[in-house]
Amino acid sequence: MSEAQLQIRNLCVDYITDAGDVRAVNNVSFDIGKGEVFGLAGESGCGKSTVAFSLMRLHKPPAFISDGEVLFNGEDIMKYSDERMSRFRWKEISMVFQSAMNALNPVLTMEEQFCDVIMRHTNMTREQAKRRAEGLLEIVDIHPSRLSDYPHQFSGGMRQRLVIAIALALNPKMIIMDEPTTALDVVVQREILQKIHALKEEFGFSILFITHDLSLMVEFTDRIGIMYAGQLIEVAPSKEILKNPYHPYTEGLASSFPPLTGPKTHLSGIPGNPLNLLEIPQGCRFQARCGKTKDTCFKVANTLTQVEPNRFTNCHLFTGK
Ligand SMILES: Nc1ncnc2c1ncn2[C@@H]1O[C@H](COP(=O)(O)OP(=O)(O)OP(=O)(O)O)[C@@H](O)[C@H]1O
Ligand SMILES: [Mg+2]
Repeated sequence: MSEAQLQIRNLCVDYITDAGDVRAVNNVSFDIGKGEVFGLAGESGCGKSTVAFSLMRLHKPPAFISDGEVLFNGEDIMKYSDERMSRFRWKEISMVFQSAMNALNPVLTMEEQFCDVIMRHTNMTREQAKRRAEGLLEIVDIHPSRLSDYPHQFSGGMRQRLVIAIALALNPKMIIMDEPTTALDVVVQREILQKIHALKEEFGFSILFITHDLSLMVEFTDRIGIMYAGQLIEVAPSKEILKNPYHPYTEGLASSFPPLTGPKTHLSGIPGNPLNLLEIPQGCRFQARCGKTKDTCFKVANTLTQVEPNRFTNCHLFTGK
């Protein structure tokens, strides 16, 4: 990995609910290098979006960050004042949300929406902001004359590219993309990911990329972190993680996806259901669904540990507990 741009240390995020305090993100730590594409994967509800929102401090009650540090170029952004954070957001790290299609304001033209973001964060005049917006549309292959249109006048794929163009508006050093293409058909999805990849090569930003689609993720990222029940359970290079998974949960995910090449294989999947976060067992959170448990797995809580160069897991089978 290149020099770290983002360093997340022991991030904990809780939701206060009527049924009790739910820790949706528990002691999550990982780094993203400058120019790196880091993927975050795992079953629905494992905490991926909660991590993404918390990094931008865009989490809303009942969520609150109960512990941890988030260092961006070495500075803890969790300590920034709200005012400093709102200047930082979009300019340093921007975000394409899970429901990006709905992120555009239906009653404003695209020109108004682009100019609003650009003028709020820079000293540009309206005319300069408009020029910048036209350039951004060209970057995502939309004709600049469309700036005067409203969101409903664009197709779903174009709206998605508009949201990506807004995320690029201030030349951020990092973009968080939470399921940026899930609602699109596979052809458009691929086109947009190729576009994002080309833009990343050109502008050099790093990406935190979240998706359910592991085969897409393997293709598009440098390293992948797998989450289970609020914890990061494995981090490995994308090329290795599905071919040689360490954690039994990653192994289960790997066997739930058909290989892109090679002979047909039986897809076995993962038995059981995701953990109820209100009923956390002692020891490993994956114990009830794991076929490889030993005594320690029912007694000792696990922490993500480096077990080889570039390979991290919290599984007791590898961390030597
Ligand atoms: N507003 C809320 N109140 C209470 N619990 C919440 C709230 N939002 C999320 N959670 C809980 O936090 C956990 C993590 O949710 P999160 O949305 O981060 O998951 P995710 O990994 O992004 O899932 P998906 O893949 O479905 O988008 C889940 O167990 C969820 O039930
Ligand atoms: Mg999510």
